[in-house]
Amino acid sequence: MGLGAGTLTLNACGLIPPASTPFTPPPGSLSLVVDLTAERATVPIFSGAETSIWRYQASVQEGSGESIQTLSGSYLGPIFRVKKGQHIQVRLKNELPDPTIIHWHGLRIPEEMDGHPRYAIEPGASYEYDFQVINRAGTYWFHPHPHQLTAPQVYYGLAGLFIVSDDEESALGLPSGEYDLPLVIQDRTFDSQNQMVYLENGMMDQMIGFLGDKILVNGAPNANLEVKASAYRLRLLNGSNSRIYKLAWQDGTPLRVIATDGGLLEAPVVRDYITLAPAERVELWADFSGRATGSEMRLVSLPFSGLSGNSMMGGGMMGSSSLPNGASFNILNLKIGEKGADVIPLPSRLSTIERHDVKDAVNQNNPRSFTLAMQGMVHTINGLVFEMDAVARDETVRLGDLEIWEFANLESGGGGMGMGMMNMEMPHPMHIHGVQFQVLGRQITGGNESAYPELSAGFVDDGWKDTVLVLPGEKVQVLVRFENYVGTFLYHCHNLEHEDAGMMRNYKIKS
Ligand code: C2O
Ligand code: CU
Ligand code: CU
Repeated sequence: MGLGAGTLTLNACGLIPPASTPFTPPPGSLSLVVDLTAERATVPIFSGAETSIWRYQASVQEGSGESIQTLSGSYLGPIFRVKKGQHIQVRLKNELPDPTIIHWHGLRIPEEMDGHPRYAIEPGASYEYDFQVINRAGTYWFHPHPHQLTAPQVYYGLAGLFIVSDDEESALGLPSGEYDLPLVIQDRTFDSQNQMVYLENGMMDQMIGFLGDKILVNGAPNANLEVKASAYRLRLLNGSNSRIYKLAWQDGTPLRVIATDGGLLEAPVVRDYITLAPAERVELWADFSGRATGSEMRLVSLPFSGLSGNSMMGGGMMGSSSLPNGASFNILNLKIGEKGADVIPLPSRLSTIERHDVKDAVNQNNPRSFTLAMQGMVHTINGLVFEMDAVARDETVRLGDLEIWEFANLESGGGGMGMGMMNMEMPHPMHIHGVQFQVLGRQITGGNESAYPELSAGFVDDGWKDTVLVLPGEKVQVLVRFENYVGTFLYHCHNLEHEDAGMMRNYKIKS
């Protein structure tokens, strides 16, 4: 099985041909039809008892079997590998005991395809997705989005990557095939029977967000990966419910970033560490060709302080995970093997990103602002929590408009927005459905720095984003154009416990 030993394996999925309807693909057909069943199962994560999990099982009904990769023995996945322009049909079958619906995170698709909780289907029911991929090449993903059940459903295993390629990207000749490695980083807590434990600290976990005490990569704990002495494209997704990673190579090798949430950067950027919040993606170009056979490298999360749920803050009072946010730990051990493919130098120019001009924003003098604060026991956006159908007056935008959206995080001890005696130092990774945006600016108010000095050098704000981390005491402005579809979409904190507790709102794009 391999996985029990913590080895990652990535296999092309066995194609299950449709039993009754023989299909002859029209020449050059770009359509992909997949049956995706959300179901309960068990997988061997540790030696001993198998772990009960929830997962998506895919079967390709039409199109290339290479469009779907499975992570063998893992709860995660599958991985879609599609091309820009491709027409996708997915039939979701709900074999879970609870309602569910899939959201395609980062994709520009119509409202009915986007997985708003109002479209959730009951156990036994099905939902038909049918959309065209209009996003540029990038590492997108999908996960459940039912009302107040997103966090547990992701936690128990439901999530997969949705990788889009396009001609511009293919022309670069970046590492591909076995040299293109998706790495989904998550944290989980297991009991002595190898079963996942969720929200054992109740209210406190809900307020801070769940922090597991084991780190998993592609569903494997203590993950080991054998790589060749060659260059790799590593696609990292923080698929955790609430944990923030401060990613670095353990030996101090700088990280070469080539892409963020919405695909390639214009040019690679180099960071000593990368701050990766829940739902954010970053792609690295990692060249192991100069390394000796048998040598090892470790991807780690560096220590940091200044957040609630952190070992430094409030002791055991604020959350009692034995692996607090800001703890230092190993993520992945890489073992360098034999020489692999020849390394093509990393191009100095990767793509063209048309920069939005703030002067084109319809609200340049009056940014649409969203205040993130704690009220009572919940985190709110402009004083409000999620309502299934409500759209406030300041939550309506016009199709085609470029706007400045500003997220102001008042949850910093110095801001006085803490709850009574306890100060909250709460980061909020803010995500907007249906768009990709550009980060315009960030400000931190003096006296409210909290974790900022320890994490801000790890932001990669240079390209397209759909999720942006807003640290305690910080204000972040993004430039966003609502350009594809009218409809009601969501924006929310991607700390999934915050989201489920109501830190989410609708916004409406009207013509
Ligand atoms: Cu990945 Cu509504 O989120
Ligand atoms: Cu999303
Ligand atoms: Cu939040």
